[in-house]
Amino acid sequence: MSIEIPEGLTELLQGFTVEVLRNQPRDLLEFALQYFTQLKDSETRGASFGNDQNSATRPGKAVNFIDEAMQIDSENGEEDEDDEEFIGKLRHTCFVLRSKCLVCAEAFNPDDEEEEKEPRVTHPKTDEQRRRLQEACRNILLFKNLEPEEISQVLDAMFEKFAVNGEHIIDQFDDGDNFYVIESGTFDIFMGVEGIDKLVGCYDNQGSFGELALMYNTPRAATIVATSPGALWCLDRLTFRRIIVNNKAKKRRLYEAFIETLPLLTSLELSERMKVVDVLSTKAYIDGEQIIAQGDLADCFYIVESGQVRITMKRSRTKKEDGEEELDIATCSRGQYFGELALVTNKPRAASAYAVGSVKCLAMDVQAFERLLGPCMDIMKRNIANYEEQLATLFDCSVDIEEQNA
Ligand code: CMP
Ligand code: CMP
Repeated sequence: MSIEIPEGLTELLQGFTVEVLRNQPRDLLEFALQYFTQLKDSETRGASFGNDQNSATRPGKAVNFIDEAMQIDSENGEEDEDDEEFIGKLRHTCFVLRSKCLVCAEAFNPDDEEEEKEPRVTHPKTDEQRRRLQEACRNILLFKNLEPEEISQVLDAMFEKFAVNGEHIIDQFDDGDNFYVIESGTFDIFMGVEGIDKLVGCYDNQGSFGELALMYNTPRAATIVATSPGALWCLDRLTFRRIIVNNKAKKRRLYEAFIETLPLLTSLELSERMKVVDVLSTKAYIDGEQIIAQGDLADCFYIVESGQVRITMKRSRTKKEDGEEELDIATCSRGQYFGELALVTNKPRAASAYAVGSVKCLAMDVQAFERLLGPCMDIMKRNIANYEEQLATLFDCSVDIEEQNA
């Protein structure tokens, strides 16, 4: 389903929001009435809202207003914290509006003819570069479901970029140019919330970033700063959209119905559930294959698509006997999830997971898990509380999940 956003709506709302923030009216409805009446009048007279020419902001000029305000600040060399905070808030509000409108309006346009017509991008590489690139891309979930021909086009199009310590690879609110795969180096993730930059995570020598702005045609959602010298592989916007976004559209069609049936995701809106589909990758396992090993560090969350998954836990035998025994503690089948506990508690895996028969799982990496599944946390925490009871019954003693996997 695609929702058409009328032309000008985004700008209209941005302009109005900017004026509300600037004027802080007590009666919002009255202010809205005045604003839109004056706006309609000014459309014929060519005037703008408010008396002060410099601060006048008409819909469509909201972003310009912010840029102008920032420019004036930097020209004057003034470090007025209030202004900065104010401008930060405006940028944030406009960002949220733009993101929300664009995500709907863009309608994930995978079969865009313009994009199809673009010639294939190829950056020649030495054998050594290609080997390093393949290694860096081995675990990138976004590439997991691509056809061999698609992955080969992606690898051909990627190019190398070296980062210096402190370099801003991406700045929040900018337009998206490339998608980045990390070959080496550490990177911090910052998000400006109401004008204040907060560290929300980091990448340590692996992973990828920069897909959101390209997938949803939104401004960059976060700032990424190198905290060591690093090596990145970049994929240009057009190739990303032509291959990855097209592939994602196929996946949406394939998984739409299944995702709707998952009780875990009921607190998400439809557009959020579709974003979950976008980041999931399919993993297949044969009978008896280990999916998770107890004690390992965690990087993924899993939803069972087909087959059954046996969850087991090791525990020490009684004093007379040596060694450990591995006990079955649960079974997950279609629509159920596992592997969330280590991501929620930031601890190693509390249990192991094995395929029973042929199994297909949908996997999501830790960054996407944190970004998208926040609203589902209540349901997960309720289940985690059940684990303790379940273990206490099974092992006939009280078990503290937090301590168990410390
Ligand atoms: P993009 O918005 O294109 O550019 C910034 C990138 O930061 C974003 O894509 C994600 O790949 C990455 N990122 C990492 N953590 C987060 C987060 N919590 N919220 C948004 N983006 C994030
Ligand atoms: P995680 O610790 O990441 O990896 C093993 C998974 O087994 C765990 O997350 C849970 O999803 C799942 N699991 C199922 N039952 C239990 C249980 N009783 N205790 C701990 N983990 C369990």
